[in-house]
This record gives sequence, structure tokens and C-alpha cells, in this order.
Amino acid sequence: MRKILIIGIGAGNPDYMTIQAIKALNRADVFFIPDKGTEKVALRQLREEICDRFIEQPGYRTVGFKVPDRDGGGPNYRGGVEEWRGKLADAYESLFAEHLAEDQCGAFLVWGDPSLYDSTLRILETIRDRGFAFDYEVIPGISAVQALTARHRVALNRIGEPILVTTGRRIAGGLPDGLDNVVVMLDGETAFRQIDGADIDIYWGAYLGTPDEILVSGRLSEVADEIERVRREARTEKGWIMDTYLLRRTRED
Ligand SMILES: C[S@@+](CC[C@H](N)C(=O)[O-])C[C@H]1O[C@@H](n2cnc3c(N)ncnc32)[C@H](O)[C@@H]1O
Repeated sequence: MRKILIIGIGAGNPDYMTIQAIKALNRADVFFIPDKGTEKVALRQLREEICDRFIEQPGYRTVGFKVPDRDGGGPNYRGGVEEWRGKLADAYESLFAEHLAEDQCGAFLVWGDPSLYDSTLRILETIRDRGFAFDYEVIPGISAVQALTARHRVALNRIGEPILVTTGRRIAGGLPDGLDNVVVMLDGETAFRQIDGADIDIYWGAYLGTPDEILVSGRLSEVADEIERVRREARTEKGWIMDTYLLRRTRED
């Protein structure tokens, strides 16, 4: 039976690759490499660097494929995402049928960890639900959340406190009641600007794990302007940005 490996490659530094991920790389006959357009060239380069550095057997195959554009601006956000996933499922199914023999193993190199804001697992489940048979395995990776906390040398939470991981659009109205630790990903709109930052600390990081990494931390009300400026300048210079941050309500002990 065909086998697909979903390999978490870490969020930016090739050294984030785990030994399990390296072993998985060396089990694959073919790698499916997405092309998400020019602004993600740097991400594609990291995937290629990982293949060159860690794959021992010569002659491994890579198959590139174009990721369809996603209409993220429509009123029905969830519906738009489902439609996009359907198109990707069609593309993946054709890739497997065309490039993977019945006894072969294919791999997707997933940025960070495959369980966090990544569609690969859902897409593979969709293909299996349609009746296309294959086995699959997931190899965990170091997510941007772990890279962020490690680089800032902070824990995600204080004793016994819950943690919320969410998107920028979900915190635009403020931190939810009862949650003192919120990690924000996928925030293209600097949602932290809309939060009263007098009693909140922010630990912000962009291009984590890469040579271009930027870190800023402090009381949100004091560093929000600086983060916005640094973010804008970096984005203009590179043409794209990936950033993540932890917001933490301060506490008087
Ligand atoms: C589609 S999600 C993928 C998350 C990934 N699966 C993970 O485990 O980190 C992309 C978001 O992750 C965050 N991210 C991923 N890599 C990052 C990095 N190297 N530096 C900062 N943020 C990153 C950003 O918030 C970005 O918008």
C-alpha cells in the first residue's frame, strides 16, 4: 500500500529537525514540495536545504506542485477554506496516482508541527474518505510557538494557568476573560494594537529560527509602536513576514 509521511520540519531552523524526522526523510521515495508563490520562496528554499543536508541516499525524487490561491477575504471564511482544501485534495490525489507506485513512500515536509494551523492532515483524510487507499504517519516538529518561547527564554504559562493558541482575528476584541496567556499566530493585521496593553506583556518574534530573526518583548503599551514599525520595515524589505507572539496578563503576586 502507498504510504505518506507527514514530517514536521520545525519552524525555520534546519537544526530544529528531530532525529525521527531525519529518519523519516530517509524512508521516503518522493517528496511533494508545494509552491505557494514568490513571497514564500524562502520557505521552499529551507525545505530544499533540509533535503540536501539530511537525505543520505542519492537520487531521491522531488515533485513540485502549485498550491491553488485561497480566497481569504470572503464573508464565508470557513466555506472558503473548505473549498480550497477540496482543490488541494484533488491535486494531492493526482500527485499520488501519478508519482507514487503502490509500494512506495511519499512525504510532505510540513512547516513547524503538522498539528498546528496546517491543512495537510485534513486534506489526506479527505482523500481517504473519497476511497483512495493509502497509509499515513505523522512526525511531530518544533512549532513556531516553541521556537518563540525558547528564544525569549520564557515558559508558555505560569503555574496551573491555561494557554490559548489562536489567530489575530480572534483577539482583535481583547483577551478572552479568564485567559492570561495567549499565543497569536496568523496575524496579518497587528491585532495586538487593538488591545489595552497597560497590564499585558508581549513576547514577539518574526522569522524565528532563521538568520533574519527579530525579537521584541516588553509591556505591550510600551513596545507596540516599536513592534509595528520593525514589522513594517522588515516586511517591506523582504516582501513577506511570519510572526508570532505571546501575550501575558501581568499578575501581582
Ligand atoms: C500556517 S501557520 C503554520 C504553523 C506551523 N505549523 C507551526 O507549527 O508553527 C503559519 C503561522 O505560524 C507562525 N510562524 C511559523 N513559522 C514562524 C517563524 N519562523 N517565525 C514566526 N512565526 C512563525 C506565524 O504566525 C505564521 O503566520
